[in-house]
Amino acid sequence: MRIAVIGSGYVGLVSGTCFADFGHNVCCVDQNAEKIALLKQGVMPIYEPGLAELVSSNVTAGRLTFTTELATAVSGADVIFIAVGTPSRRGDGHADLCHVYDATRQIGAAIGTDHKVIVTKSTVPVGTGDEVERILREIRPNGRFSVVSNPEFLREGAAIDDFKRPDRIIIGVEDDAARTVMTEVYRPLFLNQAPVIFMRRRAAELTKYAANAFLATKITFINEIADLCEVIGTDVQEVSRGIGLDNRIGPKFLHAGPGFGGSCFPKDTLALMKTALDYEKPLRIVETVVAVNDQRKRSMARKVVAACGGSVRGRRIAVLGLTFKPNTDDTREAPSLAIIQALLDGGAQISAYDPKGMDHCRDMLPDIEFASNVNECAKDASALVIATEWDAFRALDFANLREIMASPVVIDLRNIYRPDEVRAAGFVYESVGRGEVVDIAMSASSAA
Ligand SMILES: NC(=O)c1ccc[n+]([C@@H]2O[C@H](COP(=O)([O-])OP(=O)(O)OC[C@H]3O[C@@H](n4cnc5c(N)ncnc54)[C@H](O)[C@@H]3O)[C@@H](O)[C@H]2O)c1
Repeated sequence: MRIAVIGSGYVGLVSGTCFADFGHNVCCVDQNAEKIALLKQGVMPIYEPGLAELVSSNVTAGRLTFTTELATAVSGADVIFIAVGTPSRRGDGHADLCHVYDATRQIGAAIGTDHKVIVTKSTVPVGTGDEVERILREIRPNGRFSVVSNPEFLREGAAIDDFKRPDRIIIGVEDDAARTVMTEVYRPLFLNQAPVIFMRRRAAELTKYAANAFLATKITFINEIADLCEVIGTDVQEVSRGIGLDNRIGPKFLHAGPGFGGSCFPKDTLALMKTALDYEKPLRIVETVVAVNDQRKRSMARKVVAACGGSVRGRRIAVLGLTFKPNTDDTREAPSLAIIQALLDGGAQISAYDPKGMDHCRDMLPDIEFASNVNECAKDASALVIATEWDAFRALDFANLREIMASPVVIDLRNIYRPDEVRAAGFVYESVGRGEVVDIAMSASSAA
């Protein structure tokens, strides 16, 4: 198949490259000329493990090209994927669809008389496919096209594997011609027996939001349980394991931490909430999840302040990890950013280090120091905050950190260490949801 992918970001570039690797002929389009110039030189504009190699092999095989010329890519394609950003709209939290509709108008101007399948891969609210179809029909009253919804579920950091070995593929179609074409596009995955679920377009659109809202709920649920564990003196990780082994619950997304962030969950929960309000069917659970998660980032900053004895004014705080999760350079809505801002507001000086995410933060955080390694970051710090669980932070040299830090305090917001180990190294150690275990016999006798 000849495929055009509009938008060559985290989703478009990975999807386009994987489609090329399936054997399709793919042209990735982006309006950002710098991005396309880098890609043409073999330089990746984002960090995603394994992507550079996969792009290179498919470019060499002649199946993958890059352009800023949307019209040329579209006119030569059978299937056109829209994979542009759908951020939160300033002011009201609805998904901002301006990029989707811009791309649609450009596609409408470029499609000729052959049948084309236009697929929204971007996460878009229910009814967006109808609007895409309406815009295209307005531009091309006699055009032959189908509009499909094929939301993407890949996770940054494991995107290629997720794309090639998905839990399922969701395809929302309204006609048989589109169904046949989409079957062809995903044929290599049919052969791998990945479940491909065809449904109506609106159902596919809602499935994506419902999935993200459910996952965000699971994270928020365990975070609240973690807070309870802290005050009753027990370990949330034992509780997570205890409930996660129940097949009906499952072990994933039950890691207590600083709250969800990233380029999807915050904006998607908000957009779903807004859609539901428009239909006068408020989603109270999702509303609560959004509110609880928003408050959580500030409460994590308070945890740092408390570990520093009640004030961070004039203190140097080292923050390890800026990206919203490891193995990506994406810092959109990362909890670290809100925590850093709260600590700055409290008068702290911040030094930060992240293996891949620092370039994205330099403009956003002009008042902090960016270190080039862990030691430089931790030097003279009154506390060390682990904000992202990069592998590089899992084997810190605590003996050395004790030497170079101003005071030995670690706040591990990802629970990557065992409290007894870090405390044995001479540190004050705080983590999430791992309350001091109280000897029940003793507490009973002291209560008596
Ligand atoms: N990032 C993820 O992990 C993820 C996962 C699943 C779904 N999604 C969804 O996929 C969509 C894309 O997300 P992303 O993270 O890849 O975004 P991104 O910001 O990384 O990439 C979007 C790209 O689209 C380009 N673009 C915008 N308008 C264009 C136009 N008219 N013509 C050509 N290029 C255009 C931008 O320049 C940018 O490079 C969003 O709707 C997102 O919610 C993202």
